[in-house]
Amino acid sequence: MNANRPNSPVFHLEDVVFRYGAVTALDGFSFQVNHGESVALLGANGCGKSTLLRILAGLSFPAAGRVTFCGQALTAERLADASFSTQFRRRVGLLFQNSEVQLFNATVFDELAFGPLQLEWPRDRIRKTISDLLEVMGIAHLKDRAPHRLSGGEKKRVALASVLILDPDILLLDEPTAALDPASQSQIFDLLISWRNSGRTVILATHDLDNLEDIAGRCAVFDRGRIVAEGAPLDILHDVALLERIQLVRPHHHKHEPGAAQPHPHPHLHTGE
Ligand SMILES: Nc1ncnc2c1ncn2[C@@H]1O[C@H](COP(=O)(O)OP(=O)(O)OP(=O)(O)O)[C@@H](O)[C@H]1O
Ligand SMILES: [Mg+2]
Repeated sequence: MNANRPNSPVFHLEDVVFRYGAVTALDGFSFQVNHGESVALLGANGCGKSTLLRILAGLSFPAAGRVTFCGQALTAERLADASFSTQFRRRVGLLFQNSEVQLFNATVFDELAFGPLQLEWPRDRIRKTISDLLEVMGIAHLKDRAPHRLSGGEKKRVALASVLILDPDILLLDEPTAALDPASQSQIFDLLISWRNSGRTVILATHDLDNLEDIAGRCAVFDRGRIVAEGAPLDILHDVALLERIQLVRPHHHKHEPGAAQPHPHPHLHTGE
């Protein structure tokens, strides 16, 4: 499972179809992410971003198509193999969109200790790593609190810390800055920027277009279970027609006759009127 060479594929998906009963969430989906890339998944609600992240995390398996991780098939059968699954889970961390799903321990400290205890780290190392990470994440004051009684943004930061504690080199982040106040958001952006520079692979779903350039080298734009565009953040951000078509920016409003405002897609950036 060695994919630490830059530009070697970490994930490769071909013609993936994923259905929840009658709902097709991914519809013939092909995608590749190479080691060390930072890729932002963009698209309207319900277009399949979280579904893709769950597949990459080995939590959901497609009805059709192929998924590989570092050249090896990523299937339920393969993950039933203890040595493959231990290595995979150690290397790949997923931050869920909904932090409630991620938090199940009695205290924040226990939440962060859970993974290291499973891996039988020495107690001293666990305590030291947790205390360092609590500081970095600005959540030291929450250490003895019950995770399920925290605010939405606090939960998000604890959930992220519980992913980072094992220092995964591949991070899957489902809307990591949603529900965070501006200071916490910029803290997460700083972390994302330093991960980018440290050669980690980051794949994140986001609706935040303002910070794309800092946090992603490439964007994959989804529409109804397919990728409709891929490119550098600036190229995607300048494609206003695309962003309006897939409902990532608000349709432009302007007056057609006195008093009447009408929403409609607008292919050109205005200079004001
Ligand atoms: N557990 C589920 N059961 C049935 N349908 C589901 C389930 N989870 C997601 N879906 C459907 O699958 C499609 C893709 O959902 P997904 O959660 O992947 O979208 P998303 O791009 O992450 O959206 P959002 O921006 O709202 O988080 C949607 O049509 C959604 O309604
Ligand atoms: Mg989602």
